[in-house]
Amino acid sequence: MKNLVLASCSCAALVLGASAAVAAGPAAPWMNTALSPDQRAALLTHELTTDEQIGLLHGPMAMPFLGMTLPAGAIGSAGYIPGIARVGVPALQESDASLGVANPLGVRPGDYATALPSGLAQAASFNPSAAYQGGAMIGHEARAKGMNVLLAGGVNLTRDPRNGRNFEYLGEDPLLAGSIAGQAIAGIQSQGIVSTIKHFAVNGQETNRHWANSVIAEDAMRESDLLAFEIAIERGQPGSVMCAYNLVNGDYSCGNDHLLNDVLKKDWGYKGWVMSDWGAVHGVADALKGLDQESGQQLDGKVWFDTPLKSALQNKEIAPARVADMTQRILRSMFAAGLFDDKSGPGVIDDKADLTVARQIADEGVVLLKNSGGVLPLAKTASKIAVIGGYANLGVLSGGGSSQVVPKAPYRTIPMGGEGSMAQFRNMLLDPSAPLAAMRRAAHEAKIVWNDGRYISAAVAAAKDADIVVVFATQWSGEGEDQPDLTLPNGQDALIAAVAAANPKTVVVLETGGPVLMPWLDKAAAVVEAWYPGAQGGEAIADVLFGDVDASGRLPMTFPASIDQYPRAELPGLNLGEGVKFDVPYTEGADIGYRRFAANGAKPLFPFGFGLSYAHFTYSGLKVNAGKSVSVTFTVTNDSKRDGKDAPQVYVKSLAGQPALRLIAFDKLSLKAGESRTVTLPVDPRLLAHFDVKAHGWSLAAGDYEVAVGHAASDLSLSATARLGAQKLKP
Ligand code: BGC
Repeated sequence: MKNLVLASCSCAALVLGASAAVAAGPAAPWMNTALSPDQRAALLTHELTTDEQIGLLHGPMAMPFLGMTLPAGAIGSAGYIPGIARVGVPALQESDASLGVANPLGVRPGDYATALPSGLAQAASFNPSAAYQGGAMIGHEARAKGMNVLLAGGVNLTRDPRNGRNFEYLGEDPLLAGSIAGQAIAGIQSQGIVSTIKHFAVNGQETNRHWANSVIAEDAMRESDLLAFEIAIERGQPGSVMCAYNLVNGDYSCGNDHLLNDVLKKDWGYKGWVMSDWGAVHGVADALKGLDQESGQQLDGKVWFDTPLKSALQNKEIAPARVADMTQRILRSMFAAGLFDDKSGPGVIDDKADLTVARQIADEGVVLLKNSGGVLPLAKTASKIAVIGGYANLGVLSGGGSSQVVPKAPYRTIPMGGEGSMAQFRNMLLDPSAPLAAMRRAAHEAKIVWNDGRYISAAVAAAKDADIVVVFATQWSGEGEDQPDLTLPNGQDALIAAVAAANPKTVVVLETGGPVLMPWLDKAAAVVEAWYPGAQGGEAIADVLFGDVDASGRLPMTFPASIDQYPRAELPGLNLGEGVKFDVPYTEGADIGYRRFAANGAKPLFPFGFGLSYAHFTYSGLKVNAGKSVSVTFTVTNDSKRDGKDAPQVYVKSLAGQPALRLIAFDKLSLKAGESRTVTLPVDPRLLAHFDVKAHGWSLAAGDYEVAVGHAASDLSLSATARLGAQKLKP
């Protein structure tokens, strides 16, 4: 069906044209584009009445949820902040957009968008430029639909492999996650709209997320979760930061003076605005703690930033200057993104071009975990391939919740059931890019037969009768709930084990939200982690299975051998009722994922950074250039007979003699068969430093730093040592 929003086009015109009524001139000096966003925002803030200022500081959900109706002027999306026509302030039409423009509860009937692969798949590409293209694609689609604020940039580090939102995030490493998020945000904002970064901060689990208190030491937080945000904010310059549902060290994130005022606004000098997550505001005092805007206001106990804020102003509990500051921060980001000056119109969506972007990212995000005896790539002439299970005849899985992208019809959803208001969000939506059809297109000479995998006996019979078997397995995950364990649900582990026992040439394709256990690993010939691969997922899986593209994804998260390898074998707060606060002690500190495996010597199923290629790469000539700034130089050689893509990774193994393991640089290279390339990569000094709480800044100790380059966190063959002088850096 034609995109309805575009067809009517009125919404986009309404948003982008709102400022057109007010022209630059003495009456509207803030429209002078020669002034900086700060200057323009200051002029306009000054012009607004107190009521007008407060009007910008809160807004409702813009969807039919819990009896709410669509506010007048709202297109229909996650949130809406009315504009001010008198002075040309456009309304804020806020849409979720981590993986594509969302359409919650079908609020815009018939509207669809292009879904990128999941966040973990994007991070698995180890390719920030691809993330930029993805962001630009989403930004362009959002703009055409009339959205001007995208609730994107999910960069919470994946501390627990069971977190139901891991699929939205970018893995366990601050440099990788921060680089990918930063570029995705920059891509979105290149389209003249605002992006958020979220959820600030240490939002590590979904289980009872409104009452979970993340307990973590200051230095550990700065060196991990906060560093990911810091890097992404520096690189992406998001107009807004969304604070989280959880508490951090005793205070709610959206009323956390330390996180919002001390760290974000003072230490990092952040000039944009802090918006709340939906239903995450706990009182008018949050405004004093650094929160600038209340979102999804119907979900809070009161609309705190409306009448209660006015009363607080009258009672002098809050100063007019703070309300002006809150207003100015919002306006500043709107000016910086170009929301007031836009003359180029909403633009037109080119579905084909957008699907190409989705496919390229999916191609680079697929991770080849095992490939015995070169069973992959599949020969296009193999006489008979059995494809089994995982709805591979219908499409590829996507994750549930606010990030859900609705594809072009027809597509399938399988309701997951449940109770309460969130049950309506629990749908397993299959992006209509069926791997089975894509495989048939890719290998027209092979005979490909289908078995749905419901009955093990029938699947085994199909497997025995085929030369090669490709068995698909799915693990759905979604916002608001964590996985209880790391098994594949619905007996799929037993199905895979039986199929692999019946035919040793069994290839397992996983569509999972994050890491799973693989009790059948020894029996499977090959394993491919395809994540939730998005609008072109079936094509991307076929591309990699048949070797039309190299397998170049690398794991952005460790795959553990057992949940016991993690510090919290039982999910904190699991059996507590709503409203009961509980601690989530992040005892691992900054040693998330591979860093902790390295520290305690445990062996994962697959390490961070791991992924096979159909080509073969070697590294040589590692040099650490230690002058005023640090960089590393080395040569990557494709010593195989086929072209391929590699993601070389550089880690520091000791910090001034102290053992450690941290990713400090990475690259993504396309190399022809036999080609070599020498690369020089800068190293962020914060990755070599400790956060010194007492001295309030980063401190790099003088001494020897061992640096290594390799194919994964536990595969570091080539190393070099550099002597660095002591250095202090601002917080
Ligand atoms: C999620 C946010 C999202 C917001 C608006 C919340 O439940 O945590 O990520 O942006 O809803 O849909």
